[in-house]
Amino acid sequence: MGAAPCGRQIASRRSRAPEPAPLETLFEQRLAREVALPSRLAELYGSLFLPARSGWPHVIGNFVSSLDGVVALSLSDQTGGGEISGFNAEDQMIMGLLRAIADVVIVGAGTLRSAPRHLWTAEAICRPLAGPYAELRASLGKPLAPLNVVVSASGALDLTLPVFASGKVPALIVTSPAGERRLRESDLPPSVRLAVGGEVGGSAPDANASRRVPPVAPSEQQPASLAPLDPGSAGEAADSGHFEPGRRAEAEAATASQGVYGGEAGLISAGAVLEAVLASQPAEVVLTEGGPRLMSEFLAEGLLDELFLTLAPQVAGREPGAERPGFVAGRHFLPDDPRWGSLVSLKRAGSYLFLRYAFGRR
Ligand SMILES: NC(=O)c1ccc[n+]([C@@H]2O[C@H](COP(=O)([O-])OP(=O)(O)OC[C@H]3O[C@@H](n4cnc5c(N)ncnc54)[C@H](OP(=O)(O)O)[C@@H]3O)[C@@H](O)[C@H]2O)c1
Repeated sequence: MGAAPCGRQIASRRSRAPEPAPLETLFEQRLAREVALPSRLAELYGSLFLPARSGWPHVIGNFVSSLDGVVALSLSDQTGGGEISGFNAEDQMIMGLLRAIADVVIVGAGTLRSAPRHLWTAEAICRPLAGPYAELRASLGKPLAPLNVVVSASGALDLTLPVFASGKVPALIVTSPAGERRLRESDLPPSVRLAVGGEVGGSAPDANASRRVPPVAPSEQQPASLAPLDPGSAGEAADSGHFEPGRRAEAEAATASQGVYGGEAGLISAGAVLEAVLASQPAEVVLTEGGPRLMSEFLAEGLLDELFLTLAPQVAGREPGAERPGFVAGRHFLPDDPRWGSLVSLKRAGSYLFLRYAFGRR
């Protein structure tokens, strides 16, 4: 078999996506650091800037949305972002690029359930660029695969799925105490670690979460076929692992004032998810690909630094009662607590726009 097409989510019924075309850069803020991209990626994406290192991971989100703000159709046979993007090759190239610079990719269990065979690696989303992505990771001193993190309140996860059982990626499940009990009923595959996170509506992101997650030695964390983790590559964030005081206070305030899920058992704060991740390994760049429920916690707690948003030039529509979420579900911000972003870059391919907004730290 030849190389699979790029795919926002793998969907066998789709025909091969075309090779991505170079993006046109319409606006770009030159941030502190330019990532040295391999020539093929530089040709396709243009320049990629990151802010200065801060000692805290840079947390970025990535979504594709229709013009009318729909990110998922929630149909039994069409659940992924691919239907929204039209399996756009440039969108997939950017997804791969973000995964390639990420130490960690975090998704909610709903996103895993909508793409159960997927691995959250650069080459899994855009195989034709596997070589340049691997080259980029090597040049950044990162192992072949980012840590794949799945967040689940219920713990109702199929541990035989490739993300857990293939051994191709190190995986971390962040779950509630009830979820942990459920998951412990099955044998955890060797590449999977488990962490219990503090719940939304709790007094604070659970400082004990990190203590419950024993630090993972590189050899334990990475399957033998993958390059070992290089702690040095994760930069200054390596000494972190805990909330900056300002962020913790903001997170608590946001949780207290905005929580729609506050009473829902098992929902874990985004801060606790990050604590668990950092207790597991150092991370300079953390990518979350949602879905909407998980994203709402990151935004509510002021823990999303940037959003890469692809605007696909189609209108999805909504009927009353039909579940067609935007990239935030389960929280509201307006009118009391708005989240304004500032444009970092704007790129274009055909009628698609690739937006990048900074939200700053709250
Ligand atoms: N267009 C795009 O770019 C894009 C991106 C991502 C996802 N999507 C789509 O969005 C849909 C899924 O939406 P969703 O809102 O259900 O996504 P989700 O956030 O990935 O999944 C929700 C589930 O994840 C777990 N979860 C999320 N946040 C949690 C938290 N703070 N604490 C504990 N558990 C948490 C829970 O799992 P349990 O049920 O196990 O408790 C929850 O039921 C899919 O169709 C997917 O394809 C689209």
